[in-house]
Amino acid sequence: MRRERFVTSPGGRVAGDIRVPGDKSISHRAAILGAVAKGTTEIHGFLEGEDCLATLAALAALGVVIERPGPGRVRVHGVGLGGLRASPAPLDLGNSGTSMRLLTGLLAGQGFDSTLIGDASLMSRPMERVAAPLRRMGADVSTNEGRPPVTIRGGRALHGEVHRLEVPSAQVKSALLLAGIQAEGRTLVREPGTSRDHTERMLGAFGVQLSRDDGAVAVEGRARLEAAPVDVPGDFSSAAFFIVAALISGREPLRIRNVGVNPTRTALIDILRMMGADIRLHLLAEIAGEPRADIEVIPGALRGIVVPEALVPVAMDELPVLFAAASVAEGETVVTGAGELRVKESDRLTAMAQGLAALGVGVENRPDGLRIHGGAVGGGEVDCRGDHRIAMAFAVLGARARAPVVIDDVQNVATSFPGFAALARSAGLRFEEDA
Ligand code: S3P
Repeated sequence: MRRERFVTSPGGRVAGDIRVPGDKSISHRAAILGAVAKGTTEIHGFLEGEDCLATLAALAALGVVIERPGPGRVRVHGVGLGGLRASPAPLDLGNSGTSMRLLTGLLAGQGFDSTLIGDASLMSRPMERVAAPLRRMGADVSTNEGRPPVTIRGGRALHGEVHRLEVPSAQVKSALLLAGIQAEGRTLVREPGTSRDHTERMLGAFGVQLSRDDGAVAVEGRARLEAAPVDVPGDFSSAAFFIVAALISGREPLRIRNVGVNPTRTALIDILRMMGADIRLHLLAEIAGEPRADIEVIPGALRGIVVPEALVPVAMDELPVLFAAASVAEGETVVTGAGELRVKESDRLTAMAQGLAALGVGVENRPDGLRIHGGAVGGGEVDCRGDHRIAMAFAVLGARARAPVVIDDVQNVATSFPGFAALARSAGLRFEEDA
């Protein structure tokens, strides 16, 4: 694949009134649940990024008719849980771990065989975390020494199970719930911490009975899903780059309209407030169980903190940009309990530590987090390892660097945030794209 670069210039100031594209997690789930529901699911605000498009392509290969009547609009003609058909070719899920893990759970309960593959990053990511618990439900799922391809032999009768996850993971939990709704009996998933709960909320909106208590969720098997409209809010994880950009670069407030503020996603706001940030939520009406708000960011100085570990799992995707904020905060910021960052689209702890060090930031790469000494940031060259969130974190930090920052291997920004560069420039960041 062609490697693209961003080249930032110092001094950009982010402010004004913006919208970010639709939520990635909710878009994947709307397509998948819509595919196996009875009836037609109309989705508005769908994220047309490469990851969610990979989910749509996989569902189409499984025999689901999907129309895209306009920007952000997707119409899924549901076939019911029994209506999927074998794909003639392996399902290529590109860079998208969410697609691969959720579809593994769904396809484990089907009557046909499937093979799931992806790009070089996805082919190196751990899949036993979904395969092993699915096997305990009676599924026949194999991996290549823990990694993709994931091969599923269909036609196995699944039975409900009680699962205790070792790390909180929305993808694993969702895969098990998607298998659970096809199984005989009840499936319960207990997690050692909080992970995002969009699957639970959307299953409820599609008519599935769930029971939830602190740290656990259960579904009954042989469920039936009824199509429901989905209005996807802006993605908080995309908004996060602009929240930090406004805080560290701006003089005037920034408003980000209609962002999903499900509390299992927004711990970054709590962390930034502890660092001294002024961030205000103007709540809007909740739609289909998902809260949303206009987010107002008032720029101001940040100070380093020791981040409480309980907040870390619910800020995992936002940690790269939090590390950027910490680099210009006064004093030291310490993040622990973030070992999961090593198995994301890249090893995000090492990618951030190496990039920050290249810009002259004092940083220690620890087994489960980073210690960052905030201060001056210089120019230099950073390899974002094909990881969208690393690329955008450094694009934001470039506003406060003293000299240009060259960020290499940024083409995967389009997996989660199509149009990032244009939006960032219109909001006030200064950088060029360079292919
Ligand atoms: C996601 C879950 C998270 C997150 C990922 C999207 C999802 O991973 O990092 O970007 O949509 O379910 P976990 O499975 O580790 O929670």
